[in-house]
Amino acid sequence: MSITASQSSEMTLALTAAQTAGDLLLKGSLKISPESIEYKSEIDLVTEYDRQSEELIIRQLGQSQIPIFAEESQALSLQDRIAQKKDCWIVDPLDGTTNFAHGFTHYSISIALMLEGVVTLGVVYNPNTGEMFTAEKGHGAWCNDQLITCKENSLAQALLLTGFPYDRRIKSSFYLQYFECFLKHCQGIRRPGSAALDLAYVAAGRANGFWEFGLQPWDVAAGLLLVEEAGASISDLYGTQCTLHSPHFLAAPPSLHNEMLGLLKKLEPHECQI
Ligand code: IPD
Ligand code: CA
Ligand code: CA
Repeated sequence: MSITASQSSEMTLALTAAQTAGDLLLKGSLKISPESIEYKSEIDLVTEYDRQSEELIIRQLGQSQIPIFAEESQALSLQDRIAQKKDCWIVDPLDGTTNFAHGFTHYSISIALMLEGVVTLGVVYNPNTGEMFTAEKGHGAWCNDQLITCKENSLAQALLLTGFPYDRRIKSSFYLQYFECFLKHCQGIRRPGSAALDLAYVAAGRANGFWEFGLQPWDVAAGLLLVEEAGASISDLYGTQCTLHSPHFLAAPPSLHNEMLGLLKKLEPHECQI
């Protein structure tokens, strides 16, 4: 099958939604103040711009008549929709809220379309660079109009991306065992702060692999399709096939993915098993 960028009517809607929300976030980032920020938990923030971005995206995607599952409103039960193989949009209106709130210009908007329980379209937009990462199942992964692919590397030469979930203050030692395990064997690890963009960067070959615990479907739905279309292998940290609700994810080109799994087999993590 030859790979060409496809642009379905749903992709056109998603691109417009991401672009419009990105413009809003860029303007919002200039006005952010302590009054714009609320706390979902001790370190889990939400800003008025997360909510405004979500409203804009819902208004735009609403033209498709497909139900929308979005992080800040969560009107639908996503688990039910997946189990019943129903359609819906899955939206993270601002992935990287902590970065956004600090003026650290690395965050994104993530929009995915699930049809009959399968993610078939993904868009991750970085408004600070203007990079629109897109994928439709079977049509490859793209950054703007460039086809992108994952980059194989041995673990010794690999740059890895990761993040830490919001329970990190109480489970830090558990997560750090995995960090240490990879740190001892790879070339470098980065914790950029937007899981959707991390996956897009692996898809684009800017980093070689990604792992993380505690992500939610809206963090990964679009990004997983991007890495899959870019040639990565995806599983959980035990090598089991993952779903959008998996408790942990590992994505890397096939040979590196194997090498990372092999290393994890030797790790005997203490403390809570997630
Ligand atoms: C977060 C980011 C971060 C990841 C967290 C996510 P949010 O999303 O993706 O990189 O480490 O686990 O929750 O809260 O900024 O939308
Ligand atoms: Ca997120
Ligand atoms: Ca978010």
